Amino acid sequence: MSDAIRYERVGDIAVLTAQNPPVNALGVDVRKGLLSGIERAEADGAKAVLIYGDGRTYFAGADIREFGKPMLDPGLPDLGSRIEASPLIVVSAMHGTALGGGLEIALCSHYRIAVPSAKMGLPEVNLGILPGAGGTQRLPRVAGTEAALDMITSGRPIKAPEALDKGIIDRVTEGEPREIGLAYAQELLDAGAARRAVCDMPAPEMIDFDTRYDAVLKKGRGQISPATALRSVQAACEADNFEAGLKRERELFMELMNSDQRQGMVHAFFSERAVSKLPELKGVTPRTLAQIGVIGGGTMGAGIATAALLSGLKVTMLEMTDEAAAAAKGRIEGNLQGALKRGKISQDQFDILTQQSLVLATDYAALAEADLVIEAVFEDMSVKKTVFTQLDAVCKPGAILASNTSYLDVNEIAACTSRPEDVIGLHFFSPAHIMKLLEVVVADKTAIDVVATGFALGKMLNKITVRAGVCDGFIGNRILATYRSCADQMILDGASPYQIDAAMTKFGFAMGPYAVSDLAGLDIGWASRKRKRAAGMDPRARDSVYADKLCEAGHFGQKTGKGYYVYEAGKRGGTPNPEVAALIEANRAELGITPREFTDEEITRRYMCAMVNEAAKVVGEGIARRPLDVDMTLLFGYGFPRYHGGPLKWADIQGLDGILADIKTYAQEDDYFWQPAPLLEQLVAEGRSFDDLNKGSN
Ligand code: CAA
Repeated sequence: MSDAIRYERVGDIAVLTAQNPPVNALGVDVRKGLLSGIERAEADGAKAVLIYGDGRTYFAGADIREFGKPMLDPGLPDLGSRIEASPLIVVSAMHGTALGGGLEIALCSHYRIAVPSAKMGLPEVNLGILPGAGGTQRLPRVAGTEAALDMITSGRPIKAPEALDKGIIDRVTEGEPREIGLAYAQELLDAGAARRAVCDMPAPEMIDFDTRYDAVLKKGRGQISPATALRSVQAACEADNFEAGLKRERELFMELMNSDQRQGMVHAFFSERAVSKLPELKGVTPRTLAQIGVIGGGTMGAGIATAALLSGLKVTMLEMTDEAAAAAKGRIEGNLQGALKRGKISQDQFDILTQQSLVLATDYAALAEADLVIEAVFEDMSVKKTVFTQLDAVCKPGAILASNTSYLDVNEIAACTSRPEDVIGLHFFSPAHIMKLLEVVVADKTAIDVVATGFALGKMLNKITVRAGVCDGFIGNRILATYRSCADQMILDGASPYQIDAAMTKFGFAMGPYAVSDLAGLDIGWASRKRKRAAGMDPRARDSVYADKLCEAGHFGQKTGKGYYVYEAGKRGGTPNPEVAALIEANRAELGITPREFTDEEITRRYMCAMVNEAAKVVGEGIARRPLDVDMTLLFGYGFPRYHGGPLKWADIQGLDGILADIKTYAQEDDYFWQPAPLLEQLVAEGRSFDDLNKGSN
C-alpha cells in the first residue's frame, strides 16, 4: 500500500484517505494507492469504499509536474474505470477543490457528497489540455450537455450547491469530509442502495456542435484546448458506446498533451506561483503595513488607492487642492461602485471604505503616520524630487517611500532623500485596481525588508508581483519600447499599422500594438520620443516622425476620437484612419525609403525576435532575476497570450538557435537595432534554454 493513500476499515466501509500534501495531486503514488485500496477492499469483505482527502482538499487534480513525461501505471483513465467497475459501493466525500482528475475520480465513484464550501470543476483547458480521465464523457451524462460544455470549455469551477443543482453531486452536508462520507456510505448500505456507474447512463443530449465550435474557437483567440475539449464532449453524444467515447477523448487528450500550447500554459501555471518566491526574501520579515498614503488622485493614484482600500488598508489620499481631492474621491468612489456592482463588496463595506478607511488631505503632514507612501504624480524627475524631499521631511522613521514611476531612475529619486534604503519603485499598471501586475523596482540602496514589504503589499492586493532592477522602463516598458520600435521600423519599411495589428492579434494578443497605443493615448509615446530625442539619440537609431504628426494635429487616439483608427461614438473598436497612410508615406519619402511587402509571418517573427532579444538583455543584465519574471510581466501587464507561456518560454519552444540566426540576418540591414543579446548567444552556444535558467535559480 502506498503511503499516499491510507487504508482502514470502519465496519463494512473501507476508507481510502489521500495524504499527499499540499493539494493531494493524483501523482503516481496516489494512483497506485487508490488502485490497491480498491482491490484490498474487494478482497477483505468490505461492502462500501469511502474516498476522501486529508488536509485542505480532496484531489486538486492530476500531478501537473508529471505532464510531458511518460505516464506511469496505473494511468488515471484506467484507474477511474477500475473504481467505477468495482462491485462495492464507492462514495467520494469532497472538500476544498475537487478539480480536473479529482472531479473525474469523484465521477467514477457511485455516489458523491460534498461540504458546502467545496468547489469543483474541470480546469484542464487552462493548462492547454482537456479532461482526459473520462471527464468529457461522464460530466455531460450527469449534468447534461450544455452545463458540462460550459464547465469544460471555460474551466470555471462551481460551488457544491450549484453542483448539486446540476446533478453532479448527490448531497451537500456541513461537516468533516470523513464524517459526512462515512455517515452517507453507511446510510446507503442500510438502505440497500444499488451500485451506480455513470458509464451505464444513456449518452447525453446532442446539440449543434459545429456552431458552438466556431464560437468557442473565436473566444479562445487561438487557444485550441477549449474547442478540442468541445469535440471530445461531442464524442460523448455521438459515440455508439461509452468505451468509444473514451477512446476519442484519449486521442484528443494526447494531441493537446503533445502541443506547444500545453507547454506554454503549464509554464504559466508554475511561473505564476514561483514569481513572488525570491530566494533572497526567504526569512526576511516585511515591515508593518496598515496605513498607506497615495499622492496624486488621477486615474493611476485613484486605482492604487482603490486596490489598497479593497485589501483592507487605510488610505490617505494627498492632492494639491480641495477641488483635486474631491475629484480624486469621486474617481475612487466610481471604482468602488464597480466593485459593488460586481458583488465584490457590500453596500455596508462600500460605506465603510469611503467614509472611514479613506481620508483626503492637501497637507503633507497628513502622511506623518503612514507606513508606506506611494506617489503617483506627473512623470517628471523634478516633480518627483520635490515630492520625495517633502516626504523625507514628514514621514515617520521606517516609513517606505515609493514611486509609481514607469521609467524614471529610482536611484536618483532615492538620492534626494536622507533615507535611500527606504525608497523603492512600485510600478502599477492602469487601471491599478484591475490590472494584475506589480513591478517592485529595487534600487541600489533599497533595504531587503523594504523589498519584502513590496512583495507583501503585492500579495495583499492580489497582484502578480515581479522584482525588477533599475533601468529605463524596468522590465515591461523597456521590452515594450523595443518591440514597438521594431513595429515602427517595419512601418517605415513598408508594413501598415493595420497589418501589424492583425498579425499580432492572430498571434494571440487581444489587441495589436497600434490599437493599444490608441487606447493608452498617443501622447504617452510622443512624450517618450521627445524625451529620448532630448537626451540625445544614437545617430544609428532610426527615428520615425509620422506618429508625432498625428499628435501635433491633436489626435491622441480613443480619447480624442482619432489616432491610428477613427472611433465613432457608441461603436466598439475603430476603423483605419485614412490620414495615417499619407503621413507614413511622407515620412518614408523624407527618409528615401522604397516600401516593400511584408508577410504576416515575417511581421510576427521580427516582432517576437525583437521582444525576445530585449528580454534576454533584461535577464542578462540582472534587471529581471529569471526568465520567468519576464514571462509573467508580459503575461500580466501586456496582454501576452497565456498559451504561449511568455516571450522566453515561446522562444524556448521555437528554438533559440533559429531565433538568434534570424536576429543575425536582420542585423545585416540594421546592426544597431539588432544587436544580439549576449545571454541569447551564450545559451545557444551552450545548448541550453531559458527554462534551464529558471530551474537553476530555484
Ligand atoms: N499538480 C502539482 N502541483 C500542484 C497542483 C497539481 N495539480 N496543484 C497545485 N500544485 C502545487 C502548486 O504548484 C503549489 O506548489 P508550491 O507551493 O511549490 O508553489 C502548491 O501546490 C499549492 O498550490 P497553490 O499555491 O496554487 O495553492 P492555493 O491554495 O492557492 O490553490 C488550487 C490550490 C486551487 C488547487 C490551485 O493550486 C490549483 O488551481 N491547482 C491546479 C488545479 C488543476 O488545474 N487541476 C487539474 C489538473 S489537470 C488534470 O487533472 C488532467 C487530467 O484530467 C488528466
